Amino acid sequence: MTWWRDAAIYQVYLRSFADGDGDGIGDIAGLESRLVYLRELGVDALWISPWYVSPMADGGYDVADYRAIDPAFGTLQDAERLIGAAHQFGLRIIVDLVPNHTSDQHPWFQEALRSEPGSPARERFHFRDEPNNWQSRFGGPAWSQVEDGQWYLHLFDASQPDLNWDHPEVREEFRSILRFWLDRGVDGFRIDVAARLVKQAGLPDKRGRFEGVPTFDDEPGEPDKDRPEVHEIYRDWRLVLGEYGNDRVFVGEIWVVDPERFAMYLRPDELHTAFNFAFLKCAWESEALRSVIDQTLAAHAKVDAPPTWVLSNHDVTRHVTRYGRKDSAFMKRVHDVPADLAQGTRRARAAALLSMALPGSVYVYQGDELGLPEVFDLPDALREDPVFRRTDGRDLGRDGCRVPLPWGGDAPPYEFGKGGAWLPQPPDWRDLTAAKQLGDADSMLSLYRLALRIRRSEQALGDGDMRWLVSEPDVLAFERDPGFTCMVNLTDHPVALPEGTPLVASADLIGAVGVPAELPPDAAVWLRAG
Ligand code: NOJ
Repeated sequence: MTWWRDAAIYQVYLRSFADGDGDGIGDIAGLESRLVYLRELGVDALWISPWYVSPMADGGYDVADYRAIDPAFGTLQDAERLIGAAHQFGLRIIVDLVPNHTSDQHPWFQEALRSEPGSPARERFHFRDEPNNWQSRFGGPAWSQVEDGQWYLHLFDASQPDLNWDHPEVREEFRSILRFWLDRGVDGFRIDVAARLVKQAGLPDKRGRFEGVPTFDDEPGEPDKDRPEVHEIYRDWRLVLGEYGNDRVFVGEIWVVDPERFAMYLRPDELHTAFNFAFLKCAWESEALRSVIDQTLAAHAKVDAPPTWVLSNHDVTRHVTRYGRKDSAFMKRVHDVPADLAQGTRRARAAALLSMALPGSVYVYQGDELGLPEVFDLPDALREDPVFRRTDGRDLGRDGCRVPLPWGGDAPPYEFGKGGAWLPQPPDWRDLTAAKQLGDADSMLSLYRLALRIRRSEQALGDGDMRWLVSEPDVLAFERDPGFTCMVNLTDHPVALPEGTPLVASADLIGAVGVPAELPPDAAVWLRAG
C-alpha cells in the first residue's frame, strides 16, 4: 500500500490542540473528541507531536520514557484507544520519534550522571573532558558541565543530552522502541532531527562561523549534520518496519538544503518521505517557487520518492504572518517587522491550493486551516520555548505558533477546553474559531474542507506528474492528467483564466456572465478541462 505517496497529513501539536480534562493543556482525550472534525476536514493521517513522559523542557522533545504517555496527555491506554478510534474514522496515526537526544531525566542520563567519567553509562552519550566549539541550535554553547568536571553534548537545550549513535545499546533500544509503537498499531514515525544523529568521529571543532547565533542551514560537511553513516541507521530501521508489512512509513525531519543530499535519505531502503522545508522557507515569489518546485520534483524523481508540501509547523512563524511581510521568505528571529495579515491570508489561501495541487503528499499544521497568524505579544513569563531563554529574549522563540486552537465561543479559551489555555489566545481570534468558520462558506476552513475533498476525488491530484503551462511572468500554471489545471496569480493585476471549469478558487473570480473570468492577484484556482 502506498497511501503515504499522496496523503494529506494533519500535524497535531497535542498540548495546543484540544483539552479534554480542563487543565489548560491539550491531551489525548481532547484529540479524541475532535476526530470527527478531522475526518470532516478531509485529512488522511495525523502526525502527533511527542506524547511521551517528559519534563516538557522543550514541549515534549525531551523524552524521559519512550514507552509511556506523559500524565498531562493521558495514559498508554488512552493512546491505544485513540489509535483504534482514529483508524475507525479512516485516519492513520504517525507518532513522533526523538532519537537524537533524550531528556536529562531519562534513566540512562541519570545513570550516566551517577557514574564515573569513562564508565559504560557515560558512553551512551557524548561526555568529554573538554568541550569543542559547537553551539546549541537553541543558542549558547552545545556543552554543559557536570559536577565532576566533565562536559556533555547537547545540540539543543542543556536538558536534552545527545545520544551516542555509535553505541550498540542505543541502536538496539531504538529498534525496540519502534517495535513497541508498531505493536500498538501506529502507521508511521516522524523522525526528529533525522540528519544529526551521527556526529563526526572525534567531534572536531566547527570552522568558527558562530557568533552565538545558530542558523537553520549549516554548510555541507558539518561535523554534526548529514554524516554519511547516518544512512545506515535508516536502512536498519527500514528492516524493522518491514517486519510489519509495507504500509507503515517514516517521515524525516531533514533540514538539509542541497536537494541531492536531501533525497539520499529517501532512497528505496531508507525513509519514505521527508518534509519539504525548501518549499516552507520559500518567499511568495513566482520564480523562487517555480525553482523550488522544479528542484523538489527532480530530486525526488531520482529516488522515486513522493515530494511533500509543507507551509508551516510548530517551529516556524505561521505563514499567514510570513506571507504578509514585504520579505516573505522564512527567517528565524524576525518578530519586529510589520505584516499585512489581509495580504498574508490571501496568499495563504492561494498557497493552500498550490500545495494541495502539487504531486505528492501535503501537510497541514493545526490552525493552518483556520488561517491563524503568529502571536507575538505573549507575556514573557508565560513563554515556554527554551529558545527564548537561551537567547536572552533576542529570539522570541516558537510559542507564538503554538497558541491553543480556538474552537468556538466568543472569548478565550474559545472552547479549547473547560479550563483555560496554557498560552493566552488573542481577543480577535473570536472571528477565527472553527465553529464560526464552519458557518461561513468563504472562510479558510471552508476552503480547506472543499479543496481536500476535491483533492481526494480528483484522479489527477496526489501522486504523479505535472507540466508547467506557458504563462505570463509571475503566474504559475500547471496541468496534471487527466484534465486538471492549477493557476496561481502572483502579479499585482487580474489575469485571464485558462481553459476549463473552475472547481475551487481561493478568491472570487472576476467577471460577469458572458465576460471571460479573471483570477485576482494573490489568488489560485483549480480547473477541470472541458
Ligand atoms: C525539531 C522539533 O520540531 C523541535 O520542536 C524541537 O525543538 C527540536 N527538533 C529538538 O528536538
